[in-house]
Amino acid sequence: MAERIAHETRLAAASRRAGGRLEAKTAADVAGQAARVHRPVMLDECVALVTGGLDRVNGRRPVIVDCTLGLAGHATAFLKAAPDTRLIGIDRDAEALGLAAERLEREGLADRFTPVHAAFDALGDVLADQGVAQVDAVFMDLGLSSLQIDETDRGFSYSQDAPLDMRMDVTQPLTAARVLAEYSEADLARILKVYGEERHARPIARAIVRRREAGRPLETSAELNRLVDEAMPQAHRPAGNPAKRVFQALRIEVNGELDKLAATLPQAALALAPAGRIVVESYHSLEDRTVKAFMAQGLKADVPEGMPVVPPDMMPYFKELTRGAMKAGPQEIAANPRSASVRLRAVELTRPLPGRWRHRFAEQATDPSAIAIGGGDGHDRAGRSGSRGRRR
Ligand SMILES: C[S@@+](CC[C@H](N)C(=O)[O-])C[C@H]1O[C@@H](n2cnc3c(N)ncnc32)[C@H](O)[C@@H]1O
Repeated sequence: MAERIAHETRLAAASRRAGGRLEAKTAADVAGQAARVHRPVMLDECVALVTGGLDRVNGRRPVIVDCTLGLAGHATAFLKAAPDTRLIGIDRDAEALGLAAERLEREGLADRFTPVHAAFDALGDVLADQGVAQVDAVFMDLGLSSLQIDETDRGFSYSQDAPLDMRMDVTQPLTAARVLAEYSEADLARILKVYGEERHARPIARAIVRRREAGRPLETSAELNRLVDEAMPQAHRPAGNPAKRVFQALRIEVNGELDKLAATLPQAALALAPAGRIVVESYHSLEDRTVKAFMAQGLKADVPEGMPVVPPDMMPYFKELTRGAMKAGPQEIAANPRSASVRLRAVELTRPLPGRWRHRFAEQATDPSAIAIGGGDGHDRAGRSGSRGRRR
C-alpha cells in the first residue's frame, strides 16, 4: 500500500511536469497517466516492425518479448495491433513494472501479458522459466523512461540536485556515489572516456580522487557538477552542461548498460523462431554501435573476403528491415525531444541459425566483450545486480 501511494505520487508529479493535470482518483486512473508521462518513441514504426511478421506464425500463439517494458507504451500498442499475441514484459525497475501491469489491466490486455522483474540479460532464463522455447519478436527501447528521469531522488539528471544514485534497479548495491568513492583513478578515467566520450576524462578523474582523498567524497549531483566545472579546462568546453557526458558515463557504468545489451542480443537471436525479429531503439552512439555490430554479424556471408563461392551454410541469416538506422521525423522530434537521438534498427531471421552461430552466441551471452563497446571485461566491480543468471 505504501509503495502504491509512493508511485502514485511520483507519477502525479511527473504528469504535472509533463504538462498534464492530475485528475485521477484511483490507482487504475493514475496508471492511465503513464501515457502522458512517457511518450513511446517511433511508435507506429515499432508496431509495424514488431508485429509485421506475426501473421506468418502457424499453429501456436505468437510471443513478443518487450525487454524494456517501462510504462508499457509500446507494449500496449503491440498487444492491440496483434490480438492473438502473448507479450512477456521485462523491466528491472519494479515501480515501472507495477505501473505497466496496472495500465495493461485497465486496457483489458492483462490476460495476454506476463510481467517479469529482471534485467534483460536474464532473457534466456526468463524464457526457460516461462516454458517458452521460441519467440517471434524481441523488442528493446533502451535507456530510461521519462518517469525515471523526472524522479529527482534517483539522481539521473544533472539539472536537479539529488544524491548520486542513478540505479534503475534500486535494490542493487552499486550507486554512482560508490563508483566515485571506490574506483581507481585509472578506472574512472576509462569510464569517462569510453562511456562518456569525455575528452577531459583524466583531469576530471584526478579531481574526483583528490577530493575523496581530502575526506570529501562526492555525494550529490550539484557537487559533481561543480567539480566537473572546475576540473574542465576553460578552452574547448562542450556546448551545454559540461557535466552531461560525465553523468551519462556514470549511469552506463552503474547499470552495466552496454554489457547487458551485448549479452542480451545473442540470447534474443538464440530464442527467435523462424522469421522472428529483433527490433531495437538506441539513444546514444555506444548503444547503437553495439546493436549495429551484433546485427552486422548475420547480414553478411560468414566467409573470408574474396571467396568465390559461398556455401549455403555460410550465407547470411538476418535480413535487414530498416535499411541502416531509422530516425524520428521532424514532427515527432518537435513534439517529443527525447526522440531526437533515437536510432531504430531491426532484423529478421531468414533461416535457422547455423550451429556454429548458436555456439558463438551462447559464448557472447556470457562474455559480451566480443561486441560490447568498451565494456565486457567480465568484472562486476561492486555488486551490480542483474548479471546473467541473477534476476533484476
Ligand atoms: C525507455 S524506457 C521504455 C519505455 C517503454 N517502451 C514505454 O513505451 O513505456 C526503458 C525501460 O527499460 C528499463 N531497462 C533499462 N535497462 C534495463 C535492463 N538492463 N533490464 C531490464 N530493464 C531495463 C528501464 O528501467 C525503463 O523502464
